[in-house]
Amino acid sequence: MSSAPREGSSSTPPDRDSRGTKPGGRVTLSVLAERKALGTPIVMITAYDFPSAQVAEAAGVDIVLVGDSAAMTVLGYDSTVPVSLDEMVMLAAAARRGMTTPLLVGDLPFGSYERSNRQAVASAQRFVKESGCDAVKLERGGQSAERAAAIAAAGIPVMGHVGLTPQTATALGGYRSQGRTAERALDVARDAEALQEAGCFAVVFEAIPSDVTDAIMPSMHIPVIGIGAGPSTDGQVLVFHDLLGIYDGHAARFVKRYAAVRDQMVAGVSEFAREVRERRYPEPRHGYTMAPDEAERLRELLDRERQAATIWP
Ligand code: KIV
Repeated sequence: MSSAPREGSSSTPPDRDSRGTKPGGRVTLSVLAERKALGTPIVMITAYDFPSAQVAEAAGVDIVLVGDSAAMTVLGYDSTVPVSLDEMVMLAAAARRGMTTPLLVGDLPFGSYERSNRQAVASAQRFVKESGCDAVKLERGGQSAERAAAIAAAGIPVMGHVGLTPQTATALGGYRSQGRTAERALDVARDAEALQEAGCFAVVFEAIPSDVTDAIMPSMHIPVIGIGAGPSTDGQVLVFHDLLGIYDGHAARFVKRYAAVRDQMVAGVSEFAREVRERRYPEPRHGYTMAPDEAERLRELLDRERQAATIWP
């Protein structure tokens, strides 16, 4: 990826932020297409609630994905498979309330779009209507390309996802990189091109060799967002909990930790627990006060009530 002009640098117009977006402006599909045309890297992260969406907004990312990775990172399931559309819609609605500028994409969960075009369109419409997402994402090529075309035809922007597709990780032999032989890489290329043909506005490439990405990129006219797919994609995405070090599970090799937030959270809560047990919290400055004469009157009133209760039990 070529490097983006920094905010305030001579190549950033003065009325634009670090995304190249005008103040108050939103990241739209045409903004993303323009980024690709200009070679300006697109930044995408996942977010699953109000505070993480606020962080994404403040950090100036372009796309927020309410990923079905939420199944594992925030809901504690073993894989992305069990999460329901109801759960995803609830998380996406919270994220929507936390941000306005980035494009908000809702991840259609496993089982919510595969059965028929009708089911795919109904689930996508629910996501957009009930959570306020701008777009939806689905996984795989093959029949998913047909579902993507139906969703796009219904007027809902749709993002594809190829390579390692966690919803079908078991069929792929586990959470492992894909496209490592020429034939399997050709499958990935065909899936990506089919999703592009279907009308996807962008596609995620996950966990494929950089050589495979390099070979496919010339035929991709829509933005490609990579995660473990090397540096030649139009943008990069990481899972919020991975990049901030919040999630305590296994991290894939493409994860780079930019912070150790979980350590800080454990340290903060441990310190709170210690101070409560040692009666060092709360301190006087954390409490509320009452005028001394009101406190005195309260004691008198309580005494009177207690005496009355003793006389008239
Ligand atoms: O669910 C998710 O977080 C994703 C990203 C890894 C692209 O699909």
